[in-house]
Amino acid sequence: MAKLKSLDDLLVHELQDMYDAEKQIMKALPKMARAATHPKLRAAFEEHLEQTEGQIERLEQVFKLLGLPAKGKKCDGMAGLIEEGKKMMEQDAEPSVKDAALIAAAQKVEHYEIASYGCVCTYAEMLGYEQVHDLLGQNLEEEETTDEKLTILAESVINLEAEEADDTEEEEVSR
Ligand SMILES: [Fe+2]
Ligand SMILES: [Fe+2]
Repeated sequence: MAKLKSLDDLLVHELQDMYDAEKQIMKALPKMARAATHPKLRAAFEEHLEQTEGQIERLEQVFKLLGLPAKGKKCDGMAGLIEEGKKMMEQDAEPSVKDAALIAAAQKVEHYEIASYGCVCTYAEMLGYEQVHDLLGQNLEEEETTDEKLTILAESVINLEAEEADDTEEEEVSR
């Protein structure tokens, strides 16, 4: 990898990382939606897939504004998170428990994205790239909203059902 000489270089490096990360997520989300049982969770994954497509387009606009080709660089961090998510999808589990696990995997992805977009937003601001900052800020906001939605979903529906599944099993055992 070429030497990073400036904040500009680092910004580009991180943008290429995110471009690849978003594409990995785009491939993973339909699988997560299929693995989800609760209709609300499935819908949340499908909605975020649409958002992700828009986020990729914003990244392409950012590359254009910077006069660079839209190009990704393998994001190992996201590959690891998705690999873990995949193992969870293959894991034998009660549907509601699996939903809770899928939410946990998805939130890890969102937190990675929030950290990454937070960094590139800061760099763009420091470098005075207003439009770039604005576009990346929109992506950041969507990731934060998604994370919050997943928390609400986990608290209100899914974790509760997972607990109930556990209780039912205990009852069956005691009988
Ligand atoms: Fe994203
Ligand atoms: Fe996301």
